[in-house]
Amino acid sequence: MAVVPVENGRQGPMTQTFDTILRAGTVVNQDGEGVRDIGISGGRIAAIGDLRQASAGETIDCKGLHVLPGVIDTQVHFREPGLTHKEDLETGSHSAVMGGVTGVFEMPNTNPLTITEETFTTKVKAGHHRMHCDYAFFIGGTRENYQNLPELERAPGCAGVKVFIGSSTGSLLVEDDGGLRKILGVIRRRASFHAEDEYRLNDRKGLRIEGDPRSHPVWRDEMAALMATQRLVTIARETGARIHVLHISTKEEMDYLRDHKDVATVEATPHHLTLAAPDCYERLGTRAQMNPPVRDASHRDGIWRGIEQGIVDVLGSDHAPHTLEEKSKTYPASPSGMTGVQTLVPTMLDHVNAGRLSLARFVDLTSAGPARIFNIACKGRIAAGYDADFTVVDLKRSETITNEWVASKAGWTPYDGVKVTGWPVGTFVRGRRVMWQGELVSPSTGETIRFMETLKP
Ligand code: DOR
Repeated sequence: MAVVPVENGRQGPMTQTFDTILRAGTVVNQDGEGVRDIGISGGRIAAIGDLRQASAGETIDCKGLHVLPGVIDTQVHFREPGLTHKEDLETGSHSAVMGGVTGVFEMPNTNPLTITEETFTTKVKAGHHRMHCDYAFFIGGTRENYQNLPELERAPGCAGVKVFIGSSTGSLLVEDDGGLRKILGVIRRRASFHAEDEYRLNDRKGLRIEGDPRSHPVWRDEMAALMATQRLVTIARETGARIHVLHISTKEEMDYLRDHKDVATVEATPHHLTLAAPDCYERLGTRAQMNPPVRDASHRDGIWRGIEQGIVDVLGSDHAPHTLEEKSKTYPASPSGMTGVQTLVPTMLDHVNAGRLSLARFVDLTSAGPARIFNIACKGRIAAGYDADFTVVDLKRSETITNEWVASKAGWTPYDGVKVTGWPVGTFVRGRRVMWQGELVSPSTGETIRFMETLKP
């Protein structure tokens, strides 16, 4: 594509001044990929093109690097309040920006649960200029609070309602159709779901083998996931609601959801795309234990088909930190969850380099996708007027992921010792360079992400 010199009205390009210019990076954008300068003013993208004639307070050389729209991780658990020995909003968001993530949607299974106006606004305030990236929080949907959800889901900083249909970490649970119908019947925004059938999980608890995490996907089997997803889609149709099905773990759900894309959007996680049973349990033990579980390679292939076929809308890391001490308990006493917010970009860029998805598709899944399905205001693309959020990556750089690199309080990753090609080297949040070449270079200035459905006058 041609690079157009940017004019400043009748005055011409000579007079343009920006706060910052990202110089000569390969910008990956809605119009393709090409070498561009990006001018930033007041935290927003002011111009894209050939800005060699312009001046700036700071010019950052991005030659040889790819400048992507800021990666938004739409599923993380940062554990504050109540479980802050595992993670907190500061440490979790620190981990995010070290991995090139510029925005996160955080989950409500905290202690207390994020299910009231008070618990929600406390969290929003706790994140302000303490988190390193921008953020939104989900409000937990329950049988008790459903009448308040239409109001709560419209609170500034709210990413929408999250419901657990099967129990996982914490006590959030709406397992029955009646409860789901009540929630989906009153809310207006797209709601997000952890879809595993609680009744089937309870029936199959006896299949867990003490000390053997390979039995985790036997207990929480494919059918438990598929049944919950099918029930959910049926109720969404009945109520006219829009749903987002988190962390798809089976090929059957992917095939099913292909035929329900009018009501349902779909998330895949890097671990379901990267790990496979039984190998992951043999190598990593309980560190690979996650809900819904990582399953055999046929399911991993099925989720990749969902990426290739466009069925998957977003990638979420489901960053779910637990301490190594907690994870070293004997299965099934060990908690489910692994870190992931910092490794989302490098593990997925490694898949890009291996030819499993294009860089354009990665961008679609991590910025345009979240913006489209959650109606995010002014994020998710590199366009004039949008927030200057960027994930700068070196596609050729090979690095080994280590536990030491992981800034999460949990201090470990299932990818310890794994060599990847493709590495995040810079994180910009609203024009501010937050991470550069592996260093945290700015104080935390995270603010709430804005949504079209909840813009206040
Ligand atoms: O494995 C999981 N851990 N899956 C979830 O859905 C919740 C998460 C957590 O919060 O630990």
